[in-house]
Amino acid sequence: MPLRGRFTPPGDKSVSHRLLLLALIAKGEMMIAGLSDCDDVATTLRCFRALGGKAVPEQGGLRVTGLDRAFPAMPEEGEIVLDCGNSGTTMRLIAGILAGAPGRYVLTGDAQLSRRPMERVAEPLRLMGARITTVAGKPPVTIEGGRLTSVDYHLKDASAQVKGTVMLAGLSACDSGPTSVVETVATRAHTERLVDYFKGRVSVEGLRISVWPGSLELKESYLTPADPSSAAFFLTGAAMIPDSKVTASGILLSPGRTGFLRVLDRMGAKVSITLTSDTPEPTGEATVEYAGPLQGTEIAPEEVPSLIDEVPVLALAATQAGGRTVFRKVDELRIKETDRLMSIRHQLGALGARIRVEGDDLVVEGPTSFIIPAELDSGHDHRLAMTLALALKAARAKIPVLGSESIAISYPGFGAQLEELCRG
Ligand code: S3P
Repeated sequence: MPLRGRFTPPGDKSVSHRLLLLALIAKGEMMIAGLSDCDDVATTLRCFRALGGKAVPEQGGLRVTGLDRAFPAMPEEGEIVLDCGNSGTTMRLIAGILAGAPGRYVLTGDAQLSRRPMERVAEPLRLMGARITTVAGKPPVTIEGGRLTSVDYHLKDASAQVKGTVMLAGLSACDSGPTSVVETVATRAHTERLVDYFKGRVSVEGLRISVWPGSLELKESYLTPADPSSAAFFLTGAAMIPDSKVTASGILLSPGRTGFLRVLDRMGAKVSITLTSDTPEPTGEATVEYAGPLQGTEIAPEEVPSLIDEVPVLALAATQAGGRTVFRKVDELRIKETDRLMSIRHQLGALGARIRVEGDDLVVEGPTSFIIPAELDSGHDHRLAMTLALALKAARAKIPVLGSESIAISYPGFGAQLEELCRG
């Protein structure tokens, strides 16, 4: 079934989280238009309010008032418990803010989040002087906020969340020096771009990002760019389903987020990009058109952060491509909402795909005509659930996908948008 049409996905999830969290330490008032309506961002908004932040829905968006680090007094229980739901980004980034805030905070999460590693943020925060504990490396995370000192930290994992957490803590350091994060591979640059946009002092020299302590000033208004990771399902669908042509408008086009478009282009789809704005991030529209059967490709380790959330849907495209596609060094997927490497392998495997995990690589041999099983199981992994829904549309099959309600974690309107693009 071809996908045809133009659409605007919801506001970018990574940017939405950061807008709210930066407002906790910034001054002023800002109208945010187009904030993501997904469950994960609703979680960050709840935490923002629980910490005293003011956010009022108005016509045209959400008006937030910067808290300027005026964190609430501790309640009688002596601590504030923040439920981070399913959202790893909320838990990790908020730890960077609370490490420098007075008081005791306990960060909890749902069953999936409670299995995810948190030492990757706790360790650099401890080096800055934070008192922070995890339970065998996992949530709950307990933070006794206090004075932080700047640090020069070399990231062990290619993670924008860890980079962002250390930078947010660096903004509250009590000395005047910069906190620097040195990346192994460039990851999405939203934190540094937004800190700069809100008048913080930041410098980027290659893979070294430095931030100086100080306050931030919100702008009068901010239009949240649309989410390329949500757009990716339909754009990838257009690349692999004959007669398709889809345009996603208003999406973020930062290089750290558009690796999937470069891969689709390499695989033989017709991809065109039009930039409409460059501040504070490149934004515009992307069109992908079917241009014949796709060809397999190799995705290098340096490319992985720029398409980390798109591996499930790109793996689906690879099942329809001629020859071999190899995703090199995608072991970070093991610690997503599920062990995504294994869930991709099992669920696309259940459709008859020839797909295997070799060490830290994911290898797909295509093309495959799908065999339709009685049901599929997303394991409550939203990105896998959307990938499987697309696979079934492409195969014109209708079977249950267990755990599909998880789609609301990042894209509540996904099902309706899929139907609309199928109707053309
Ligand atoms: C995100 C970074 C990535 C990504 C996640 C959002 C962010 O995680 O998978 O969906 O907003 O910084 P990692 O930093 O763990 O790679």
